[in-house]
Amino acid sequence: MEDKGHIIVTGGVGYIGSHTVVELLACGYIPIILDSLENSDPVILKGIKKITGITPIFHKVNICSIDAMKESLRDYRNIKGIIHFAAYKAVGESTSEPLKYYKNNVGGVMEILQLMKELKIPNLIFSSSCTVYGQPDTLPVNEQAPIKPAESPYGRTKQMCEDIIHDFVVANNEFRSVSLRYFNPVGAHSSALIGELPQGIPNNLVPFITQTAYGIRKELMVFGSDYDTTDGSCIRDYIHVVDLAKAHITAMDRLITESNKEKFEIFNLGTGRGSSVLEMITAFKEVNKVPLPFIITNRRPGDIEQVWSDTKHANEELGWKAEKGIKEMLQSAWEWEKYYRQNILVEA
Ligand code: UFG
Repeated sequence: MEDKGHIIVTGGVGYIGSHTVVELLACGYIPIILDSLENSDPVILKGIKKITGITPIFHKVNICSIDAMKESLRDYRNIKGIIHFAAYKAVGESTSEPLKYYKNNVGGVMEILQLMKELKIPNLIFSSSCTVYGQPDTLPVNEQAPIKPAESPYGRTKQMCEDIIHDFVVANNEFRSVSLRYFNPVGAHSSALIGELPQGIPNNLVPFITQTAYGIRKELMVFGSDYDTTDGSCIRDYIHVVDLAKAHITAMDRLITESNKEKFEIFNLGTGRGSSVLEMITAFKEVNKVPLPFIITNRRPGDIEQVWSDTKHANEELGWKAEKGIKEMLQSAWEWEKYYRQNILVEA
């Protein structure tokens, strides 16, 4: 296959990062992973090797240090772009340790932009989140919806980073960027060789579901059943992580070929379909034929009631569409949980 050049992937050992590395390799790019391993496990690198047959280029380095990044990148020429995943993402923790989040997420983006300037790397894909919309006034939510006051310092870092990147690319002719606003990424690679690896007790729904089904957690807590939704539980737009990963390649191709219409573009990445927590539980049990004990508890502070994406802009302008449904998301998440417990943890 033709070599399409190097792409830096910060946080490439993490959940979305590792799936994106697999897709980049499949498309002929050569990813250079920069990851501190603070919140990720090198066992994922072995999974990438097993899936693709290629040992990915990896440097253990912190994105908050431009000097360390430059040292790692010394030998590479032809770096076409950066996909920037590396960030802290625990919403609750960001409330108790805001400085940690501003330093790493906002400080990290500043270092990345300076790196682009010094190494003349023209293209940046940024990991953003639907959290910037808060509870939207109308659904589905499109990219023109107003940015709401953030619910958490984590959410605020995403808003701030988007503004900083916007200002940077507008001020510098040779740079351009796409910000991808993820809805709720779930699921795992179909090989079950890579997937989400939450540290400690999972905050997010699907890892909590799979760990409960495996017997690691006693029961799933459904946070609230008195919302103004069809069944009273919250609604989210869950999107398969492999679909999400592919969108990064589409967005990078767009920037590299200079097909972008603006210097800073924003795309929502969702399926356009909302699912409630109770629907997810029912679907998980049906698809995987395993019991899933759960109880209804109080609402979780900071949760918004319902959100799902307007996919028109991503479908028509970016030329990307989510293909996998809830069934594949929940099946692959379960296969990964089992594979991880029965193979990777046993070998470690
Ligand atoms: N939920 C439960 N029980 C759990 C975990 C989650 O009922 O044990 C519910 C939540 O209340 C919510 C839904 O499942 O209604 C999804 O919760 P997640 O924690 O999986 O996802 P969030 O929508 O809260 O958060 C995600 C990302 C964040 C991002 C946010 C933006 O994880 O990074 O979307 O809305 F900021």
